[in-house]
Amino acid sequence: MTEPLRLVVLVSGSGSNLQAVLDAEAAGAPFLVLAVGADRDGTGGAERASSRGVPTFVSRVADHDTRADWDAALTRLLDAYDPDLVVSAGFMKVLGPAVLGAHRVVNTHPALLPSFPGAHGVRDALAHGVRVTGCTCHWVDAGVDTGPIIEQRAVRVEDGDTVETLHERIKVEERAMLVDVLTRLAADRSWRTPLP
Ligand code: GRF
Repeated sequence: MTEPLRLVVLVSGSGSNLQAVLDAEAAGAPFLVLAVGADRDGTGGAERASSRGVPTFVSRVADHDTRADWDAALTRLLDAYDPDLVVSAGFMKVLGPAVLGAHRVVNTHPALLPSFPGAHGVRDALAHGVRVTGCTCHWVDAGVDTGPIIEQRAVRVEDGDTVETLHERIKVEERAMLVDVLTRLAADRSWRTPLP
C-alpha cells in the first residue's frame, strides 16, 4: 500500500469539512491528518480534532507585530509537521508568501470560482441572483481564491433560499468534493512538481 498523504488542516470555524476528512481517514481513506491549525481560539474545528486525538495549534495574526511575522510563525508551525499538503478548510485568512513558498496548499471555497471569490461567496452569489452556484477546490496562490481549479460541484439555488440554507446545501457537496480531491491527490502525487 502507498504511504498515506500527510495533511495539516487549517480551520477558522465549525470544522465540518475537517470532520469529513477525519471520518474518511477513519474509514480507510489514503490520508492522515497530522495536526489541525486555527487562526483563533475556541474553534469547533480544533474541538473536533482534539476529540480524535489529533494535535492542534493556534496562530493568531493579532499576536504578531506584522502580518509577515505571522506568516513566518505559521510557516514554522507547519514545517514542524512536515506535511505533504496543507488543507485550508474554512480558514478565513489569506496565506502569506512564506507559507506558500514552503507548502503546497489546497483550499475549498463555497462558490463556483472565478465567480464570487472572497469571504462572502454564498451571500454574493445569492445577491447576484444566480440559479446555480456550488463549491470549488483549488490550489492556493498569492491571490484571493485565484489559484488553479482542481474540482467543482454545482448546487441549484432554490426559491426562498437564505444564505444559511444555501450554504448548508453547498457544504454537503463541499465535504464530499474535498474528500474526493484528497483521495485523488493521494493516489497521483505528480502535483508535487512546481505549479504551472
Ligand atoms: C465552508 O463553506 C468554507 O468553504 C467556507 O466556510 C465554510 C467552513 O465550514 N470558507 P466548516 O468550518 O468546514 O464547517
